[in-house]
Amino acid sequence: MIKYASQVAVAEDRSAPPASAEPVAADEHIAPAPRVSIQAFCETVETAAAVQAAGEDRRLAKAHVKIQMGGATAAVEAYRSSPTPNVIVIETESRAGDILGSLDQLAEVCDAGTRVIVIGRVNDVTLYRELTRRGVSEYLIAPVSTIDVVRGVCALFVAPDAKPVGRIIAVVGAKGGVGASTVAHNVAFAIARDLSLDSVVTDLDLAFGTAGLDYNQDPPQGIADAVFSPDRVDTAFVDRLLSKCTDHLSLLAAPATLDRVYDFGAEAFDSILESLRASIPCVVLDLPHLWTGWTKRLLVSADDILVVASPDLANLRNAKNMVDLLRSSRPNDRRPYYCLNQVGVPKRPEITPADFAKALEDQPLAVIPFEPQLFGTAANNGQMIAEVSASHKTAEMFRQLAQMLTGRTEAKRSRGNSLLSPLLAKLRKRAG
Ligand SMILES: Nc1ncnc2c1ncn2[C@@H]1O[C@H](COP(=O)(O)OP(=O)(O)OP(=O)(O)O)[C@@H](O)[C@H]1O
Ligand SMILES: [Mg+2]
Repeated sequence: MIKYASQVAVAEDRSAPPASAEPVAADEHIAPAPRVSIQAFCETVETAAAVQAAGEDRRLAKAHVKIQMGGATAAVEAYRSSPTPNVIVIETESRAGDILGSLDQLAEVCDAGTRVIVIGRVNDVTLYRELTRRGVSEYLIAPVSTIDVVRGVCALFVAPDAKPVGRIIAVVGAKGGVGASTVAHNVAFAIARDLSLDSVVTDLDLAFGTAGLDYNQDPPQGIADAVFSPDRVDTAFVDRLLSKCTDHLSLLAAPATLDRVYDFGAEAFDSILESLRASIPCVVLDLPHLWTGWTKRLLVSADDILVVASPDLANLRNAKNMVDLLRSSRPNDRRPYYCLNQVGVPKRPEITPADFAKALEDQPLAVIPFEPQLFGTAANNGQMIAEVSASHKTAEMFRQLAQMLTGRTEAKRSRGNSLLSPLLAKLRKRAG
């Protein structure tokens, strides 16, 4: 009996994507892999490069990846005398028969529990079946992109009965007071109400956060109870700290009290977010305008990022710095989105959306006008914009932002003369 892993999930027959394939689709979430060891035996430099880059991806940050050349032969040689890691990746340029032959040899030296991913050039159903029968966990067709490797490895560690994992959308201001929290709260409200997606807003501005005020909630518990009792954090515990705002929307509120100070280590929120994403499809992070170990970590590890900027020079500089840094820390992810807010303050000289687009090399996801009457009413009443005026074009913008950020870009009504339709088309292309 061959001793590969029992869990068998051979990739379905998809045609090989180009090596430079676009990052993951907007509604796909790849759960990070646990602390595992991965050893790859490649035959081509292209595949070795893809595996190397995968090892640097945020989702494999905990995994330990080692790459060698020499394919299956080198693997068999290596494991004759040493134990096998959690995952072996074998690239093979051989024909089907030879692939199976070398896997049989590998099976003889492979410890039980080790999972095997094969990267090959042969696209053939019979081969898939034979590989499955031999307990190969995944077969990827070369050429593989970095994200194919990330996806393939991470998929091995998702339990077959695991609940769908939630996506995390981080919203942050390029400067203080630009409306990042307002945007986060309204977008989350639209995700919950218009897309019926269960969502949680996590207010990470522990000292001054306004999510409780904005949703007209005054919960006795919230994020502080979790972050100050790290040993108790699990899904059930965090669920009890949520306060329900609407049918599909809950809040993990900030205490907004000053009796404590809120200095955290970089990993302080990791387990809270892991617990949330285990049970909630969409988690919106309302981040304060700070640059600390933990804010940076939350941004880098989010599935998507929305930077909110108002149209002045400091915002432009900061937004560019943030987008540039986050792009380089997340080379296999879609670039951070940004939107402009509080645009059109009377008599204020402003930097145009076109100038932002030029500097940031990307269009804003939305340009939200400055509307003190509307936003002021909403803020003071503890209401969302859509509750103050459902038909207002700003409410429609938040609905469209919700669709784009969750990848639910169906939005037939947004075709035609919508302000955002060129952007939607562009995004669809990217997401495709
Ligand atoms: N488009 C807008 N038009 C008018 N007022 C707005 C607009 N967007 C937000 N505001 C108002 O701006 C103020 C600041 O908003 P908010 O608290 O959301 O900003 P923030 O970026 O989260 O601030 P902080 O840096 O404190 O976290 C609020 O009073 C809000 O109602
Ligand atoms: Mg805020």
